[in-house]
Amino acid sequence: MRECADHSRLSPLFKTMLITIPDVLTPEQVAYARQLLDAADWVDGKVTAGHQSAKAKDNMQLPEGSPAARELGDMILSALGKNSLFLAAALPLRIFPPLFNRYAGGQSFGTHVDNAIRQVPGTPLRIRTDLSATLFFAAPEEYDGGELCIEDTYGVQSVKLPPGHMVLYPSTSLHHVSPVTRGARICSFFWLQSMIRDDSQRSLMFDLDLAIQRLNHELAGNPTVEKTSVQLTGVYHNLLRQWAEMG
Ligand code: NI
Repeated sequence: MRECADHSRLSPLFKTMLITIPDVLTPEQVAYARQLLDAADWVDGKVTAGHQSAKAKDNMQLPEGSPAARELGDMILSALGKNSLFLAAALPLRIFPPLFNRYAGGQSFGTHVDNAIRQVPGTPLRIRTDLSATLFFAAPEEYDGGELCIEDTYGVQSVKLPPGHMVLYPSTSLHHVSPVTRGARICSFFWLQSMIRDDSQRSLMFDLDLAIQRLNHELAGNPTVEKTSVQLTGVYHNLLRQWAEMG
């Protein structure tokens, strides 16, 4: 039985707020990561939880800064830096070094909201968490439960993705991970500060970007379409110039 309902009549706006990025990692990268993760020493996940969320959190984590976490974190960040869907959807300014968690034996994470500000360990850098990311390492058939359930005004959406795929969702959302009743759920999770703080403005930029890409792809060679595409690309960059925060 699923711990949270899939609402089939979600509004289009809500759908644009949860973005699945498929194939962030190749099957070879996932297999390599699994070797390191399966051999790693895991610690109690409460180490990175805030005061409120520590009460709800029951899972294991790789110690921050451990060799495996660093190596796999770099692998993820380098893959994301080349992923055009991720870059278009997130418009990232700063990304928190990826963390890794593991749920098994009934473990879960009750409903919570992620901390608004995160200090990057060992640096003076602070990140405002605009978007939360979860990248899956275990295949859905390896475990029961473990859905990431993201709540919003419009309902609850349940997410459980194939290995190497990632979901991005607004950090303002209440969310929980349902109990893992068989096998183990292994994921990376992290946050990012976007150049565009506001979700609705960021969604507009993403929609515009996708529309321009579609136009270029479908109707290349038509002079009117090419002129329109240049004009819309100008609108995109001029909106970005108005809305982007670089500090
Ligand atoms: Ni969370």
